[in-house]
Amino acid sequence: MDTSAAPGNGDNPEKRRGKWSFRRLVGVPVAMLAACAVIAVNVPTVGAAVANRYHQYQITRPAYEARYGLWNKLSIPARFRVNGIHSTLLYNGDVLIMAGSGNNQAFFNAGTFKTLLLNPVTMHEQLIRTPWDLFCAGHIELPDGNILIAGGTARYENLDPVYAAGSMTVVNNDAAQPWTLPKGTIFTGPNGVQFASAFALTIPRARRLRGAAGGQPAIVPSQQNVWVDAVRKGRGSLMPGTDRYEIQGLLGPAANNLLYGIGTPMTLQKQNFQGTRDAYIFDVRTSRYVKVNSMNYARWYPTLAEMGNGMVMAMSGLNGSGQVTMNSEMFNPGTRRWAQGPVHGFPTYPATFLTESGQLFFTGSNAGYGPSTSAWRTPGFWNVKTSVFQPVPGIPVPQDLETSASVLLPPAQKQTIMVLGGGGVGQSMSSTARTALIDIAAPDPHWVRGPSLAQPTRYPITVLLPDDDVLVTGGSRYYRGMHGSDNRDTRIYDTATNSFTWAANSITGRDYHSGGILLPNGSVLTLGGNPLFGNKQDTAPQAFNQEIDVYFPPYMFRGPRPRITAAPRVLQLQHSYLISVSQAASIRDLRLMRPDNPTHVTDVNERSVAVAFTRAGHGELRITLPASSNLIPPSYYMLFAVSSRGIPSAGFWVRVP
Ligand code: CU
Repeated sequence: MDTSAAPGNGDNPEKRRGKWSFRRLVGVPVAMLAACAVIAVNVPTVGAAVANRYHQYQITRPAYEARYGLWNKLSIPARFRVNGIHSTLLYNGDVLIMAGSGNNQAFFNAGTFKTLLLNPVTMHEQLIRTPWDLFCAGHIELPDGNILIAGGTARYENLDPVYAAGSMTVVNNDAAQPWTLPKGTIFTGPNGVQFASAFALTIPRARRLRGAAGGQPAIVPSQQNVWVDAVRKGRGSLMPGTDRYEIQGLLGPAANNLLYGIGTPMTLQKQNFQGTRDAYIFDVRTSRYVKVNSMNYARWYPTLAEMGNGMVMAMSGLNGSGQVTMNSEMFNPGTRRWAQGPVHGFPTYPATFLTESGQLFFTGSNAGYGPSTSAWRTPGFWNVKTSVFQPVPGIPVPQDLETSASVLLPPAQKQTIMVLGGGGVGQSMSSTARTALIDIAAPDPHWVRGPSLAQPTRYPITVLLPDDDVLVTGGSRYYRGMHGSDNRDTRIYDTATNSFTWAANSITGRDYHSGGILLPNGSVLTLGGNPLFGNKQDTAPQAFNQEIDVYFPPYMFRGPRPRITAAPRVLQLQHSYLISVSQAASIRDLRLMRPDNPTHVTDVNERSVAVAFTRAGHGELRITLPASSNLIPPSYYMLFAVSSRGIPSAGFWVRVP
């Protein structure tokens, strides 16, 4: 293990400031800096306004745009503005923006859950009826292009509870029938203290096992957990032990051996957010949510990752008691059923990427909750068939990967993953500017230091571009933008040279609950931003940033773009096809890019896959798809042709079954 090349914990951004300052001077036109200085001296009262106008003029000059790109704000009517916490690009070019209650407890209590369907080109907007609180669920595009959303919010956190509460396991010994207990069912403890269930629940019937020949059949009870709150306020309802509770009302006295509760300690400690087991599919054709089978486990902050066979792994998340679940489960898009998966402890929203070998590689990136122990935080390979987790240590202080971003660098064939930024576990004030890379296909994968970000950054937005660059923008220096630390830096990471160049500063602060999406025309949509406070002094209440921006990268200003004029709409692995492209003689690369679906600095299904080709003459290319579905899992993709000048076409939608 080459630890000397790994990024150090003593990653000191101050030390490198000189270097980055120099780059910034090179990056930003010097004339602009000089102009600002002169104006500030000569006309102090109107200086800011004039400087601003001059800045506006500078950044819209063609030469500036061709070098740094251009930001633009979309104009969204007030009634269509939602908290852009979850978003995904659909194969029809629309962007689905999912808020649910949007981190707003008043909306949660009122049952106000929101989703916006937006076409960023035609600016057609439509609010979608949202039947459950998908806030902080996991979401993914299925092989047929519809969106699976699993989990969400059952209950908001309670930092200072006045009713003792905890988790109740309801045991069913009745092999004759399942039992359904309504919300508010009363559980009475040994000393008469009463608790009420926060949700309805159904406990399946017990199983009857055949005994030995002539023996009585054995009963295997079934059980379900439910959150319960004390009926009376205060310390009188504290229950320090694990007690047996009788269930009131539904049953006769004899029934209490059939159905009863086993309570965890009932406390007045801080209560975490609680997840739901709900799962829905957003049907792209009907623009509706359709309920599918619930998960086996409640999840809040889960990651959904597609495997090469089209199955979806759901991992981690807070369960119905606000604890991180170690159980994974697998969704079959054909049967729409969930099956138990292997057990491993990951922090919430773990960044787990499908490797060419069919395993999942956990990069260490995550968002939010989970033990800080190295066993939970160390990156590694997870074989979901054998359940074996093989750690790949070597990145110093893996705990600092919380709120970092991870990307599978383009093209996916290189099997190189990059982690960017991040900070300490929980509401820590520490954050890091480091980046690190790892070749996960190497015989001995090890972490190497990458170029540092301009400043320590949590929640950086990272979006793969068709020319193999990675846009890196937004985030904040401190936990959830505290002290007004939203970061406007925007840089483009060049995979060929392993270095950053400056791009135009973003026009909106975006920290927690933000994301970015590559649009079919090659521009990038950014949305969200949920600072803990509304001002620099950390005294004003938070305001969610509902603005939506589009960034046009430099390649959109560098001359005529190639155009894919014809291609089959369905492309099979390993098969060859003819496609028609303008500028065919100068096409350098072809890429298949999966639609982005980011949330909480996590987008593990984002990938850009190289497609081999030969020139067939008459403006045609003969393309051949890769062989491995682990490289290119079943999905819709955008096919981009990139010219020898690094200018990409618009994406041409295809489906890889
Ligand atoms: Cu969240």
